[in-house]
Amino acid sequence: MLLNLLLNIPISTWAITAAITILVIILKRRYVSPISDIPGPLLASFSTLWQVYHLIKGHTEEEMIKLHKKMGSLVRVGINEVSVSHPDAVELILCADLDKGRWYGVFCFPDFNHINLMSELNHGRHLQKSRNVATGYAASKINGSERYVDAILEELESQFDRLSTSNSPIELDRWFNFFAFDVVGEVTFSKAFGFVETGTDIRNAIANTRALALYLAIMGHYVWLHNLTLGHPFLSRIGLQPSSHIFDTCLAAIDARKHNPEVRNDMMEQWLSARRKYPDLMEESEVFGAAVANIGAGADTTSATLQALFYYLLRNSKYLKKVRDEIEAVLGRGPYESVVSFEDASKLSYLQACIKESYRYHSATGTGLSRVVPAGGLSIDGHHFTEGVILSVNPWVFHRNPALFGEDCNEFNPERWLDSERAAQMNHYLLHWGAGSRKCPGRHLAHFEISKVAATLLRDYDIEQVDPETEWTFETHFTAVPYNWPCRLRRRPKQQHA
Ligand code: HEM
Repeated sequence: MLLNLLLNIPISTWAITAAITILVIILKRRYVSPISDIPGPLLASFSTLWQVYHLIKGHTEEEMIKLHKKMGSLVRVGINEVSVSHPDAVELILCADLDKGRWYGVFCFPDFNHINLMSELNHGRHLQKSRNVATGYAASKINGSERYVDAILEELESQFDRLSTSNSPIELDRWFNFFAFDVVGEVTFSKAFGFVETGTDIRNAIANTRALALYLAIMGHYVWLHNLTLGHPFLSRIGLQPSSHIFDTCLAAIDARKHNPEVRNDMMEQWLSARRKYPDLMEESEVFGAAVANIGAGADTTSATLQALFYYLLRNSKYLKKVRDEIEAVLGRGPYESVVSFEDASKLSYLQACIKESYRYHSATGTGLSRVVPAGGLSIDGHHFTEGVILSVNPWVFHRNPALFGEDCNEFNPERWLDSERAAQMNHYLLHWGAGSRKCPGRHLAHFEISKVAATLLRDYDIEQVDPETEWTFETHFTAVPYNWPCRLRRRPKQQHA
């Protein structure tokens, strides 16, 4: 009877009802919301499609810089999300032990049953997880892996020598990614994956990671849908999960590690021994989760920063010359027998300023780091946000703020870091690692790699872009990883001691 009645309603009535319902939802989201007074793009106030559109367009970071310039320190970027560029956001949002935004839930690999360090949203549970794995990431442990990292860097130079002898263009984006993946393998599992040695994208890990990046960034806004479909344990069981290459790479590395007689006191060992000591505080799956997080988070980011350093030095010859002069003055004129040690690279203060400027100028993550307002609310820049609102902080927006980094903040200028007093002030707002308890745990390893690679390659090679007029390409999904700027490398003549 009721069905008959419904079937007899004309289509035009259905269409008008649907249109009115949608309009009511739009108006409610736009005007009856605790953040309805925050300015922002109209579409963003009632639909996540605004964020999805900018993810697909590929330059969320540019759009956010533009919007904050126009609209001020609070910009509504979602139905329930506000981007904050006020300087207090570092303390009040990132360092305030808040839960992470739901968006990060998409980083459960291979499915929602596997919550790793990155995808753990709850602050309390995260704190325990991060304590459990902290020793593995400690700077002292990283330094202990130096000679193994040296071997990968030597292999990288052999590959560059081979390619430069045949005058082949070299795609630094690929090679830096190969290098960073291998270092994660070496430091986590006592064995490089073999990307540099074979010069190939093993199991298409890099291509797949790139393809996956956009999918994950978008599905972060629809985690429920991802969990019902491609993030569902059923698909991972039958091997159809889109991130299965990360999972498989990790499983294969763990398996190979079991049969490796030369296994060291690597990160994995640190984590396993933490679990042996405190079995009640650490679940076995956490060890696996931490390894997966390393594979997912440790390569693209490091490669992006290394690329930025070389790309902007090539485009700013006066800084390049100064770094070279410093390397020669501090490390001597060669001949050099081995790659530059981290200790020596750390003494190169001009190079270190260039690295810092690369962290600032092209931060590896270009979308907002999101956190949830806790019970009781949170006030910032004179505005009170109620519980449950998402507040996000975009490192690029901070780094392009003239009040924090100087009037020339839109230029690559490493010399802003040379005055130690000014550097100390700017350090507080340098957010390339994030800040607070969710700050990147891989930062010691990444900085160690970047310092060594930069000092060694700048010492040993003349580098130029095949076409210096062509700009690189990059899209910002979560990470902003450039590509498409082939270079030619030439061994610099070895000079004898004077
Ligand atoms: C230049 C290189 C790197 C950059 C710029 C970078 C940047 C970041 C940022 C910004 C976050 C914080 C995200 C947030 O607050 O929401 C993060 C988290 C993380 N990074 Fe890195 N990262 C780099 C290298 C690495 C490396 C080499 C590893 C592993 C060996 C790593 C592992 C992780 C993990 C596991 C997390 C999640 C931490 C958590 O939520 O507790 N990263 N990284």
